[in-house]
Amino acid sequence: MRRLLPLLVIFSTGILAASMGCSKQSEDKLAPADPCDTTNISYKNQVVPILVENCYPCHGNGSTGGSGGINLASFVNLKVYADNGYLKGNVTHAPGYNPMPYGEPALPPCQMNTIAAWVNQGAINN
Ligand code: HEC
Repeated sequence: MRRLLPLLVIFSTGILAASMGCSKQSEDKLAPADPCDTTNISYKNQVVPILVENCYPCHGNGSTGGSGGINLASFVNLKVYADNGYLKGNVTHAPGYNPMPYGEPALPPCQMNTIAAWVNQGAINN
């Protein structure tokens, strides 16, 4: 037993280190925010960047803004279309809506889900 004890200590320390290493690794994997996580969507941090890239070219304040007479470059303007169903319907290419972005492929699923979730969560200015 006397000879076994140090061995046992070394062995169990090894297991401990290995398992700590493992949990550290999975923590690292979880650390960056999941871009497809749709809980508590933020208008400012998540919705606006998608719109800037994909929608403001036609619905922004610039010279090409206001396609179809529609400017979506402010919360108040966007809220109208969030509440009347067009924002979600258009972006998710739902039947009976005008698929957006106009004449372009649908947004990737994460971005589409982000906008739909923001509407479902009440389209608040958060
Ligand atoms: C290439 C230009 C273009 C892009 C990019 C574009 N739209 Fe549009 N959008 C239009 C036009 C044109 C209309 C008017 C369509 C009509 O009335 O037939 C429109 C209309 C709309 C409307 C008003 C409701 C309706 O269907 O008439 C909403 C809401 C809308 N777009 C949302 C978006 C969103 C959200 C994006 C980005 C994901 C986007 N659009 C990207 C051109 C564009």
